Parts: sequence; C-alpha cells; structure tokens
Amino acid sequence: MTQIKAFRAAIVHLLDDPGYDLHPTPPAVEYFEDGILLVEKGYVRAVGAASALLPHLPEGCELLEFPDHLIIPGMIDTHIHYPQTDMIASYGEQLLEWLETYTFPTERQFSDPHHAREVADFFLGELLRNGTTTACVFGTVHPESVDAFFAAAETRNLRMIAGKVMMDRNCPDYLQDTPESAYQDSKALIEKWHGRGRLSYAVTPRFAPTSTPEQLSKAGQLLQEFPDVYLHTHVAENKAEVAWVQELFPDSRSYLDVYHQHGLLKPRSVMAHCIYLDEADKQCMAETGAAVAFCPTSNLFIGSGLFDVVDTKTHGIRVGMGTDVGGGSSFSLLQTANEAYKVTQLRGNKLSAFQMLYLATLGGAKALYLDDKIGNFAPGKEADFVLLNPKATPLLERRLRHCQDIAELLFVLMMLGDDRVVSKVWVMGEEASS
Ligand code: GUN
Ligand code: ZN
Repeated sequence: MTQIKAFRAAIVHLLDDPGYDLHPTPPAVEYFEDGILLVEKGYVRAVGAASALLPHLPEGCELLEFPDHLIIPGMIDTHIHYPQTDMIASYGEQLLEWLETYTFPTERQFSDPHHAREVADFFLGELLRNGTTTACVFGTVHPESVDAFFAAAETRNLRMIAGKVMMDRNCPDYLQDTPESAYQDSKALIEKWHGRGRLSYAVTPRFAPTSTPEQLSKAGQLLQEFPDVYLHTHVAENKAEVAWVQELFPDSRSYLDVYHQHGLLKPRSVMAHCIYLDEADKQCMAETGAAVAFCPTSNLFIGSGLFDVVDTKTHGIRVGMGTDVGGGSSFSLLQTANEAYKVTQLRGNKLSAFQMLYLATLGGAKALYLDDKIGNFAPGKEADFVLLNPKATPLLERRLRHCQDIAELLFVLMMLGDDRVVSKVWVMGEEASS
C-alpha cells in the first residue's frame, strides 16, 4: 500500500467561519480550481494548487487524478438516529404522536443484536454514500444497540460518536430502563468504547419528558466521572413538547434549564433542535459551550418549526447540521443544506453556499469539539474526504454550464444534488466502500 497519495481535482474547504457574504473575504474559504490534496499515512500532509505542488511530489507518491470533479472534506452529521433508518418517511404525525406511533415500536427491535448490527451496517453504508464520514448518533435504550453500532463503525475506521438512550418514564414498558441500570449500562459502554480508535461515547437521555429527575442526575454524574464524554439529547423541538416539559418540571425556568440544573450543559453537549429557546437560554448555551444540531429536514417534515440559525450563531453558540433521520427525511447533508436555505428564506435571512458548507464540515467539527482532527484539510488532520461529480445528473450538467464561480456551483450542488453527486469517499486516506 502506498503511504503517500496525491489527489488531483478541484478542491474547496473552509479555514474559518465565512459569515454570510456571498463572496467572503479570504482566508475563510480556500479554493483550488486545479488542486492537490497530499495524504500521508491517513493524514493530510498538504493542500494547494497543482501548479505549486505537482513539481515537488515526494518520491514514490501515487497520483490519482479526477478531472471535472470537486473534493470537499467529509461531511459531519451532528444529530441522527441509526435505529430509525427503517422508519424514515413515516406519514402524518408531529413529534409526540410520531414517537408513539412509529418510533417506539421500531426501536423495540434493537434488543436483538443481530438486527442491530444489520441496520448499523446499512446505516453506515448510507452515510458514506451521502458523503458523511462522522456523525453523532442515537442508539436505543438497549446497550446491545450501541455495541453493534460501534463494532460496525470500528470495522470501517470511521470517526463516530454514539450512546445508549436513557429513558425511565413516559414510554412503553418494553423500552424503559431505570436510573441505576441506565447509569451502569452507560458506564460499561463508556469503559468499553470511549476513546477506542476513532470512537467516542455520548451520554444520551432521550429528552426531558422520558427521564425522571433522578435519571437526569445520573446522567450528570456520568459527565462528572467521565469529563470528556459527550452529552446528546433533544430540546425545544415542538410546542406541545415544550408545554409538557413545563408541566413535568414546574420548578425549572425553561426546558433548557432542566438540563442546566442537572449539570448537562458543557463543552461537548449536543442539543438537537433548540427551536424554542429564549434569550436567557441562548446566553446559557453560549456560556456553557454547548452546541446546537440544526435539523431542517426534520423540523419541516414533522412540522416542528423554523430554527433561527443566524440569530443563534450571532449569540456565539456553536451550530452544526443534523439530518435527524428518521424524523429527518434524507441522509444527505447537501439536501439538508437545501432545506436549511429555505428555512432561512422564510425567516428573512440567507445562508450562502460557503456558510452551508461550513455548517456541514468545519462548523460541525467545532460543534463537536473535533476541529483539531476533522472538518478541513489543514495539515495533520485526518484525511476523510469526498469526491463530488458536479455533472452527475442531466439537469445538473445543464445548470452548471451557467455557473460563474465556485460559490454558484456549490449552491447549485446543494439545491439539486444528493447522493447521486457523491462519486467516492476516503476514510483516513483509504477509499471506503458503502
Ligand atoms: N425527541 C425525543 N425523541 C426524539 C426522536 O427520536 N426524534 C426527534 N426528532 N425528536 C425526539
Ligand atoms: Zn433526533
């Protein structure tokens, strides 16, 4: 196996948050119309213009050329449920009824480790087919579901975050744990998987309505005992849900405050949705270093609401993008960007293609505190990257004839593209098969 490889194509990546200008000032965006990505032993060694790098390729370097293609960093999905793969696109309900009708019966099947592994393998293949190389993933209440997921991710050498759902009330008996069993099962999974290869653990209370205060305290205890694990949950997604939390936790100032009171907001806390946060909540998110997973296909599909991504970022809160499959209706972060754009249109804002690429790559990495490892092609980062074919469909091919620059090309790829534009994916410099 060659230790050094040079990948030649157009290359675009973000060095910083590009803001909201259509054409941000350098150096937030780096684009090479004819570029080289130099990868050594799975890590980025250099990125630059072919004219500069080609004459100096190291001896023994293998050159792989992809004319008319575009390389971007592997995309990062900050919130998704692997056990909900088989119930994607379920009709007609909003959050609380959708959970009862579709989600709980589907998740019941993950007590069977063989079923869990089969779905995990399909799910990871689907992520890769869509150009997603890292995700923050819900399991089910069954510890077996997380064992199966991590084993499947380890086989593919993927950087993944996952955890066992904690849920001790307001759900069917067949999915219920207890504060103590959730603590013991999560602890055992942390000790087995957290920090093993590219895997990290997330303490995962489903959402405040399905955990007693005792269980949320146990989640807080795990974060104290294992300070570098993640916390992954849902908050303020749906109006009926927010009203229910007010009834269940009358002493909390807000829904977010329930988590804050139990010590669950910190760097590496990933809070899905955050549509209905007030000013004090936003300050709390910014001060604690917690991140939002913005999930526009889900927020539209299950009728939850319109998240204000621009206002949230203006508060200094970290934001990544999530598909939230199966509430979300696509595994594609390109399609998620498409819906994100429409949500901001309805809110009177605009997201540029560069801002959306940022949210799907470096911004997601920052939300997950992984920007020292992934998110762009800075030397030393793990070489997870995606080859896009901008002419993958007849319509794209036709529309691209009229594109003036990379900003327009990227925007068109997000509006019209999906898994069909993803030609190949590399994980730690090795070509991945889905
Ligand atoms: N809130 C609690 N559980 C879920 C879930 O599975 N999906 C979504 N979208 N929201 C939730
Ligand atoms: Zn979710």
